[in-house]
Formats: sequence, C-alpha cells, structure tokens
Amino acid sequence: MNMMTELETNARFVDQFGRSKRKLRISVTDRCNFKCVYCMPEHPEWMKKHDLLSFEQLYQFCDFMVRRGIESIRITGGEPLMRQGVVHFIAQLQNLKKLGLKRISMTSNAHYLKQYAAALKQAGLDDLNISLDSLDTHQFKQLTQKELSPVLEGIHAAQAVGLPIKINCVLMNGINDNQILPLARWSVQQKIMLRFIEFMPLDGDRKWSSEHVVSEQQILDSLSTEFTVIQQPGDSARSSSEPARQYFMDGHPLGIISTITNSFCGTCDRVRLTAQGEFYNCLFAPQGLNLKTEIKALSCSEPLSELSLHAVLSKYIWNKESGYHAIAQRLENQRMNKSSRKISMHMLGG
Ligand code: GTP
Ligand code: 5AD
Ligand code: SF4
Repeated sequence: MNMMTELETNARFVDQFGRSKRKLRISVTDRCNFKCVYCMPEHPEWMKKHDLLSFEQLYQFCDFMVRRGIESIRITGGEPLMRQGVVHFIAQLQNLKKLGLKRISMTSNAHYLKQYAAALKQAGLDDLNISLDSLDTHQFKQLTQKELSPVLEGIHAAQAVGLPIKINCVLMNGINDNQILPLARWSVQQKIMLRFIEFMPLDGDRKWSSEHVVSEQQILDSLSTEFTVIQQPGDSARSSSEPARQYFMDGHPLGIISTITNSFCGTCDRVRLTAQGEFYNCLFAPQGLNLKTEIKALSCSEPLSELSLHAVLSKYIWNKESGYHAIAQRLENQRMNKSSRKISMHMLGG
C-alpha cells in the first residue's frame, strides 16, 4: 500500500458539516421482551437469527471504527441482554481501549439486569442507561406489557455492583405525562440521574403525532410547581454533543432530550449499526447503507477489505444531513402516504 492510500484508509470520519464521528451505537438484536408503545410495532417481524452479524464480525467492525476515531461504543437493541454472548462481547471490546476507545456503554430495559449486573460490571461495562417510563405498576404494564418490579430490582442490582446508571423516560401526552413529578421525586430520593425524552417519530406503528409530544418547556413548567429548576451553568448554548440539556432541580442533576423542540443535531457525533449490518448516519436517515458484505470481508481479512469499507463509509457519512429538522418534513410526507422506511427504534436502538 503506498503512503497516500494508507492515510486515506485510516482517516477519521467526518460529515459535510464538519462534525467528526466519535460515538458508535451497535444494536445487537431487534428482539425485545417489552412492547413499549413509542417503539415496538404491534406485530414485529423479527430479523432472522442467521441474518445477524456474529459477535466476531461486530468486533472486527468496532476495531476498524475505533482505529478511525470512535471513542465511545454503546450497545443497544431491542433489548441487548436478550442476545446470548453480549457480556463476552463487552469483555472483548476492552481490547480496543488500547487503540483509543474510552467508553463502553449499554442501554437496556433492565428486566434481566438483576441476573447480569455483576457480570456486566466484571466485563468492564462503563455505564448503563435504563428505560423507565412510569412508577405506577398498572401504567407500567399498560406501557410495556411487563411488570415493573424486575426493573426496579435490576436498577438496585446495578447500583449495588457500582455501575453508573441514568434513567430514560419518554413522555407522551395523556399517557404518562402524569409521571413527571413522581419520577423526579424518586430520582432525587434515589440519587439517580433522570432524563426526560421528547417522543420522536420513530415508533414502529407510525402513530406519532406532534400532539403526543410533551415538550421540554412543558416538562420544565411541571417540575417548577415543586422544584427550583435551573439550567446548569455553561449549558445554555448547544456546544457539546451531549443529547440532553442539563438542569438542576433543587440541586439534583436532570437532563432533557428535546430532539423535537431543541435538537442537538448541530453537534451530532453519532453513527449506528443494526444487528444485520445496516449502517445509519442519522437516527432519521431516510436510507441506511448495507455493510454486511464489507464487514464479512473485513472479518475474513480479505485483501483490500479495509480500503473498500472505508471508501463506502466515508462517502455515506460525508452525506449525513444536518439533522432532524432537515428531514422532518420529508418524513411527515412519507408518513402521510405510508411509504416511510420500515426501520423503527427497535432495530436502530435509539
Ligand atoms: P449518552 O449520551 O452516552 O448518555 O447516551 P445516549 O443518551 O445517547 O443514549 P440512550 O441510548 O440512553 O438514548 C437516550 C435517548 O436519546 C433516546 O431516546 C435516544 O433515542 C436519544 N438519542 C440517542 N442518540 C440520538 C441521536 O443521535 N439523535 C437523536 N435525535 N436522539 C438520540
Ligand atoms: N422517541 C423517543 N425515545 C425513544 N426511545 C425509543 N423509542 C423512542 C421514541 N419514539 C428511547 C427509549 C430508550 C432509548 C434507547 O430510546 O426510551 O431509552
Ligand atoms: Fe444526530 Fe440525526 Fe439524532 Fe440529529 S437526529 S442528533 S443529526 S442522529
């Protein structure tokens, strides 16, 4: 390989707006034991097991990406703990820390967490985000079709082994917006970081409408009836690539992820891969890039495989659009004539 080619194949990934890619989200399965209304379709068509990339192939892809600037890998699903071997995969990813990887995280519904918390900690997981949309047992069951108690037990197990956690709550108008204050009180009591999330048009059954969104301002208004809420100093402008805007409520940290009313797209440093090897340069990208063949070639160390993977990826990433608001109208039109992309949150992992 001449020097020019080597430089080109090792270059970091950057898009047309100058945003370098530092965070990779890998969905290891589309399967989930929950049926959250804002995510899972009523009748999901699961990916076939033989269509999934193996953990060895995913590892080779992560290695490739870390050597090109990825600093943080988040394992998502579906529910990632439903794929056998995921703990071992996390342990294997530790090898990439010597190449520049700084953080390995997971997002989970916590149903199986009690039995996995110690093993995840031992495998070197750095932190864990947990979805919890209601503290009311009846409402929780309506939202997810599962029980609340295993999730609370999972959260306590994670705390007991010293895994740093954050709680994600997606709010929907008229469905669980009555949980703003109960969850806020609970997070202060438990000393756990809570983030409220605006409902995004990525639900499997395409039932999203702007009327269902509880906006950042509405959340703040509701919290202010009981807490003194102030924005964390230095967080007024969108200067970091953190999805959440940071607040203190009575001194306790709180985040709000407001893609609809106040997106962080301008600083987006994320890319994502589905379990069967489709790569997305944005959560809302109209089209993914099928990398299965390239990733398989990479893991068989085929000659020129790095070169060809780098070529297709850098072009696709370069063309990343500016963000949600650039794509929103097109998505809405597709939604109206039911031609929108089939992919939803349970395949993309949030
Ligand atoms: P950290 O920033 O590392 O804590 O992770 P995270 O907040 O990105 O991860 P998590 O899986 O907990 O996601 C929380 C919420 O943020 C979910 O609703 C995600 O869909 C949303 N989210 C994550 N990444 C993006 C993104 O790139 N764009 C948008 N618009 N939302 C995102
Ligand atoms: N809008 C906003 N957040 C969503 N999530 C899943 N679907 C949606 C949606 N339509 C969140 C989950 C989880 C994270 C991975 O993505 O709550 O915390
Ligand atoms: Fe990034 Fe797209 Fe999410 Fe905006 S909507 S933050 S550009 S992934």
